[in-house]
Amino acid sequence: MTMFQTLQPQPADGLLTLIGLFRDDPRNSKIDLGVGTYRNAAGVTPVMEAIKSAERVLLEGQQTKAYLGPEGDQRFVELLMPIAFGTSGAHAGRLVGVQTPGGGGALRLGGELITAARPGAKVWLGMPTWPNHRPVLEAAGLTVVEYRYFDPDTQSLCFDDMLAALATAEAGDVVLLHGCCHNPTGAELEPAQWDAVAALIAERGLMPFIDLAYQGLGEGLEADAYGTRRVLACVEEALVAYSCDKNFGLYRERTGALFVLSRDEAAASVVYGNLLALARVNWSMPPDHGAAAVRTILESKELRRVWRAELEGMCRRINQVREALTAAHPRLGFLSRQRGMFSQLPITPAAVAALRNDHGIYMAGSGRINLAGLQIADAEIFVGALVAVGGLPA
Ligand code: LMR
Repeated sequence: MTMFQTLQPQPADGLLTLIGLFRDDPRNSKIDLGVGTYRNAAGVTPVMEAIKSAERVLLEGQQTKAYLGPEGDQRFVELLMPIAFGTSGAHAGRLVGVQTPGGGGALRLGGELITAARPGAKVWLGMPTWPNHRPVLEAAGLTVVEYRYFDPDTQSLCFDDMLAALATAEAGDVVLLHGCCHNPTGAELEPAQWDAVAALIAERGLMPFIDLAYQGLGEGLEADAYGTRRVLACVEEALVAYSCDKNFGLYRERTGALFVLSRDEAAASVVYGNLLALARVNWSMPPDHGAAAVRTILESKELRRVWRAELEGMCRRINQVREALTAAHPRLGFLSRQRGMFSQLPITPAAVAALRNDHGIYMAGSGRINLAGLQIADAEIFVGALVAVGGLPA
């Protein structure tokens, strides 16, 4: 037997498979509510104007493509900090960050940092969650413990279950939290609930690991950072995986950062050295282009203004689609209470398949829909198809 003959076949990634299935569907009327990319009112995932302008600046002005090092573009990392963590400077010296290949790279790097510090650490995952959370964190060496975060039948957050789960977690256990725009459910913690979770995490000595992948696409940049800032204000140590893939529309450029809060400046410096060492053995150095474009935007008052206006427009459109669906059917009222690109319909896999086969409507097998994929003019068609396959919630 040769070496590769010992390998086991792997199932294709359920979400990413949808990209090809949709592309190959010849129907003009097809609707893509699958993978989480923003679509504008013309159904296009545009390169943002601010990014285009930044790319022009880079094209003309960039003098070299020599290596930057495993930390990536440190100016990019610094400029993201006030956006994610506010301008108070409260964590000065204790907060370090490195550029990563997307939010996925940040999750993996954070997981490996935890494993290096505490081999076999547990991570608490509220279910359902992004399907890649568990595999990435397990591959980084963590042991996953699941609890119920959301009830699809009532479309509500299981906040009591969440508190009960965290109350049984032990000091040093990791708690993975979605900073905003919960993927896949769109069910957000209210500010008072964030306060309670932050207090519990601090009281029990848990390690928060916040996945902040959609800042600005729920309520706006500031409101979407509430939970992250609240938690960090209450603890000595925390990790934040940040993605620019959605709020700068950079998807395939893989642009993100991992931030780590430590107890004091000396500990932060050791953490930083460990991050560099872990990055070096993973990807050596992160790809530059996306981070360079983001840095160029954030360094320019004018490009910043353009970016913020575009982001606010994207956020508005997603919330308008939510309103349109709620208006199209009273049983979809929950959609306008949820936030971000996603909601998860309480429908069966058979209904998901019927929507795809009979109506050309694509969504994740879990019933997750990407609201940003829907044109408001198609809201009635979509709701009609949901009714036809018995896919409306009770
Ligand atoms: C999604 O959830 O659709 C995106 O984050 C894409 C991905 O990598 O799964």
